[in-house]
Amino acid sequence: MGVYEVLLPKRVVFGERVEEQIGAEAKGLGAKKALIVSDETIKRTGLLEKVGTPLREVVEVAIFDRVESEPTLKAAEAVAMAARAAKYDLVVGLGGGSVLDMAKVASAAVANPGQVVSDFLGANKIANPSVPKMLIPTTAGTGAEATPYALIIVEGKKKAIASSYNLADVVLISPSFTASMPPEVTASTGMDALSHAVEAALSLGANPLTDSFALEAIRKIADNLEEAFAHGDNLDARLKMSIAAMLAGMAFGNAGVIVGHAAAHTIGARYTISHAKASALALPYVMEYNAPAAEEKLAKVARELGEDISGLSDEEAASKAIARVKKMLEALKLPTRLADLDVPEKDLPDLADAIMKEKGYLARNPRKVEHGDAVKMVERMWSG
Ligand SMILES: [Fe+2]
Repeated sequence: MGVYEVLLPKRVVFGERVEEQIGAEAKGLGAKKALIVSDETIKRTGLLEKVGTPLREVVEVAIFDRVESEPTLKAAEAVAMAARAAKYDLVVGLGGGSVLDMAKVASAAVANPGQVVSDFLGANKIANPSVPKMLIPTTAGTGAEATPYALIIVEGKKKAIASSYNLADVVLISPSFTASMPPEVTASTGMDALSHAVEAALSLGANPLTDSFALEAIRKIADNLEEAFAHGDNLDARLKMSIAAMLAGMAFGNAGVIVGHAAAHTIGARYTISHAKASALALPYVMEYNAPAAEEKLAKVARELGEDISGLSDEEAASKAIARVKKMLEALKLPTRLADLDVPEKDLPDLADAIMKEKGYLARNPRKVEHGDAVKMVERMWSG
């Protein structure tokens, strides 16, 4: 038995109309001057006002609403500059994964005027503890509200700022906030959350606690994602999906993700395919590739997906898990083949080369990935 460590947010407040407590939460953090970090889409949905109005009743509020999706180092530096412009004592991130990651950067930047964003890249490079931050997710997918990572595109590659200072002081989850997601986004982000949970469960970095988070996330997603997709106004399904995505974030924030995310980051960097769609598409192929090295884990995944595995061998149960994930992708009308996404077949060797460079993800993969394996995997992803 080893010794394990798990990093988690300090406080999670969730439920219907939880947004009414934003002022009290800000007060609890001793805030006087808050910066809300968000993006144009959230502004259009009216959610920015829903958060800004009660916050303004208790603290001074400034807004940065220009976060780009998949932010580059330059974009992250712009957020940091805005944050350093005043002595904010609270950063509120309101949005999807990119926004929440930029809120982490903003709160680190205020506390570390001597560092630029590139100084933060890597593990434990933020010198002083960040100012308090409240993270409010508007999708149920990335799990960014629960992880110690902020992801930034540097020279076409996704790099991480990994620090316990990135963890939220308060996570605030309101099901009505994710109810504004259209069905397509509900589907892809929900399957991205499933890929986090399954990859974290398979990861060599998994431990008994991250397994508990991952397996419960898988169960909740299997039970609620198709309902949230079909009936977006079902707040019960929405809340359960938010909890699942956060649990998956708690799992992969500590156990790490594996070759599926190496593939998703590579695909996302080269084509206009969202991260969520790419990691959802990769998931069954990653399970298939790893099955020989992780049958027992995949049998547990099958059980949490709701499959009847009584009397089956681990190998048979693992096949059921893979088949169920494929069925979910089809039911959610998500792409299952790279060929359907206009990825040229001639690019496959290059994609395999790029995946092989994602050494951190590959090191945690339960089955060793050689170059020939990566080629076969992308070929399978392409042809289905
Ligand atoms: Fe992901």
